[in-house]
Amino acid sequence: MDTRPIGFLDSGVGGLTVVRELMRQLPHEKIIYIGDSARAPYGPRPAEQIREYTWEMVNFLVTKDVKMIVFACNTATAVAWEEVKEALDIPVLGVILPGSSAAIKSTTKGKVGVIGTSMTVASDIYRQKIQLLAPSVDVISLACPKFAPIVESNETASSVAKKVVYETLAPLVGKVDTLVLGCTHYPLLRPIIQNVMGSSVKLIDSGVECVRDISVLLNYFEINGSRSPDNEIIQHHFYTTANPKIFQEIASAWLKQEINVEHVTL
Ligand code: DGL
Repeated sequence: MDTRPIGFLDSGVGGLTVVRELMRQLPHEKIIYIGDSARAPYGPRPAEQIREYTWEMVNFLVTKDVKMIVFACNTATAVAWEEVKEALDIPVLGVILPGSSAAIKSTTKGKVGVIGTSMTVASDIYRQKIQLLAPSVDVISLACPKFAPIVESNETASSVAKKVVYETLAPLVGKVDTLVLGCTHYPLLRPIIQNVMGSSVKLIDSGVECVRDISVLLNYFEINGSRSPDNEIIQHHFYTTANPKIFQEIASAWLKQEINVEHVTL
């Protein structure tokens, strides 16, 4: 059994939504997390820059001897996942394929909405993946560039957050039966998004779907961690390129446990 940690990367705190699900489904796995909050959001940046920053995070995780890397960021997945996956000799997972498959399973009327960063939406990758498997499904994509900065600044409970979500999602209301949260930051705004879209719309959390794939892969490669005694505290490591304080506040509230965060320069 392989007790090395699993590495997670994101432009900032968004990947914590994937981590929370990993902790729930696979509580004995060790986590190394890198969030590039100093340079977030990635969404409006040119592809070449996102590629460069993503590689810096990948190389950082490789120095930590991880057994697998999870791109807990749709934007990095859209831009760099294919090439990183080809270049490394450990498994590298992204969030877009699992999110696409879940949307196909969920839709009842063949009307799927996808919300994400400007880069993810411009890449058109969700529509391509969904229609490759289910050509009759209509996909309406919408960029929500204001959402990730609200999450990064820990303002998800503010009245500004409600106003921005309400105004941004207006074009999708009543048009879809399923909505893919195609940015890992968005589950932190989930209650507001659900409220605006209406309770009948199924929200797909691409990160949650990705953890199912992690579980399958760990078994497949037989690299799942050995089961530690239930009272043993697993040592996770969280790193941010920005000030650890705000990352720590968001992470501790979201993961419902105190976590230690270190600053790192990439
Ligand atoms: N969390 C990221 C994603 O899933 C990106 C947010 C951003 O940095 O723009 O796409």
